[in-house]
Amino acid sequence: GATRHYKFDIKMQNVTRLCQTKSIVTVNGQFPGPQITAREGDRVVVKVVNHVQYNISIHWHGVRQLRSGWADGPAYVTQCPIQTGQSYVYNFTIVGQRGTLFWHAHISWLRVTLYGPIVILPKKGVPYPFPQPYKEVPIILGEWWKTDTETLITQALQTGLAPNVSDAFTVNGLPGPFYNCSAKDTFKLKVKPGTTYLLRLINAALNDELFFSIAGHHFTVVEADAVYTKPFQTNTVLITPGQTTNVLLRTRHHFPNASFLIAARPYATGPAAFDNTTTSGILEYHQPSSSTHKKGVKFPLLKPSLPIFNDTSFAANFSRKIRSLASPKFPANVPKKIDRKFFFTVGLGIMSCSKNQNCQGPNNTRVAAAVNNVSFVQPNIALLQAHFFNKTKGVYTTDFPANPPIKFNYTGPPPSNIMVSSGTKVVVLPFNTSVELVMQDTSILGAESHPLHLHGFNFFVVGQGFGNFDPKNDPGKFNLVDPAERNTVGVPAGGWVAIRFLADNPGAWFMHCHLEVHTSWGLKMAWIVQDGKGRKQKLPPPPKDLPKC
Ligand code: C2O
Repeated sequence: GATRHYKFDIKMQNVTRLCQTKSIVTVNGQFPGPQITAREGDRVVVKVVNHVQYNISIHWHGVRQLRSGWADGPAYVTQCPIQTGQSYVYNFTIVGQRGTLFWHAHISWLRVTLYGPIVILPKKGVPYPFPQPYKEVPIILGEWWKTDTETLITQALQTGLAPNVSDAFTVNGLPGPFYNCSAKDTFKLKVKPGTTYLLRLINAALNDELFFSIAGHHFTVVEADAVYTKPFQTNTVLITPGQTTNVLLRTRHHFPNASFLIAARPYATGPAAFDNTTTSGILEYHQPSSSTHKKGVKFPLLKPSLPIFNDTSFAANFSRKIRSLASPKFPANVPKKIDRKFFFTVGLGIMSCSKNQNCQGPNNTRVAAAVNNVSFVQPNIALLQAHFFNKTKGVYTTDFPANPPIKFNYTGPPPSNIMVSSGTKVVVLPFNTSVELVMQDTSILGAESHPLHLHGFNFFVVGQGFGNFDPKNDPGKFNLVDPAERNTVGVPAGGWVAIRFLADNPGAWFMHCHLEVHTSWGLKMAWIVQDGKGRKQKLPPPPKDLPKC
């Protein structure tokens, strides 16, 4: 493959949205950030230079980083942050993946403005397994906040209260006509009638799962998280933070001069307040030159109907429809024989605070989030460095529990003790361990959907259901034939999801809820995958410019 070079200068830039100008952190002054384009098999080299007062790290979300874990990016997991005035070169090869992914900052809440698309084209001369689109259009959904992110994190961490909700959702950085002073900040997609477009949908929002729809049109879903899927039709796509979905849009035949609303708004299940506003763009039909229609005739703007904000049955049905292509060319290599089984509860709880924290819960407590009741504490140096140089003492312990400390009715009323513990605990897996992991939502502080993201791997979503996972009967119903293969999956509100993956990638791999507020509260953990014996089964040493803590 080729080598694609990029330079990311991290710098401040004044951007005006909703009648307010704000200095935001950007790549090369662009918002949203620049697109990375590569073909399957290419090497991508991105030099990131930090010109701002914040520590920076960039994550290439969904890129498998096969034996290139030093380039993965989560701060204090695979690297120390890039400090002001310093730089780091991310260097990785794209192996066995093609489709849409995205990059984003992976430190504090800086990904609120630091994000952009990654487009991985098939190898030269290799066609898509679906009709060749006339045009490909990245559509990256985000959130816009008037408050600066440091204030937001303080709100979330110190008080344990959910931070203010965002002030707008955005389509390619633009809120659209339904927000104050935003009519001119509207994403417009001009299309020709009777033509096929590929929309590359990305949810880069901080804290909201989103429904996405275009009035008067339907989509054919063809890919999720850079894996081809069995095509299916839908009017609405549900996309969680961290997920990407490619859809074909076939424009209609006789619509010269017509405009249709593109719209997205939240799917929200948790107890906290959320922004229930709608962001929108406009799909505009070109007047074809040969058209017999009269010029200047405007059709009214049609609005799509989206599911209501808590439509969990839509969410469950939609996620069930996503199936791997599982064709001879694109097989679904679902692990069949399982070496290790894990059962993780994911959800919110209460944590006691240290004296210097300004906690606002009763008896000096705050809301926290945990996996198996462990709220993850960020270490002072990166897990991967500690692991690679065998200096793990005081950095992490290897006793992350395979099961929750107590069994209870996870989707019922809360148990008497809802205090979470905390620690920097990991699971260590020998190279090539095949893993089955069931993740169970707890309704301790209210049932809530959690988009869980795993770094370093794709996993197969072999099962999902509502209520408590039943280890006797549910595994018999697992789909081992054509389950969705992805990197982020919504654990259903008041339910569970089962995934399988092969730990064939040595390194330290973060797994966390992609709702940023839950990550901050501790809904995260890490897997350490050991080297294998073979030369191609080991993680190479870190690059010379790996930042120091
Ligand atoms: Cu998209 Cu760990 O993140």
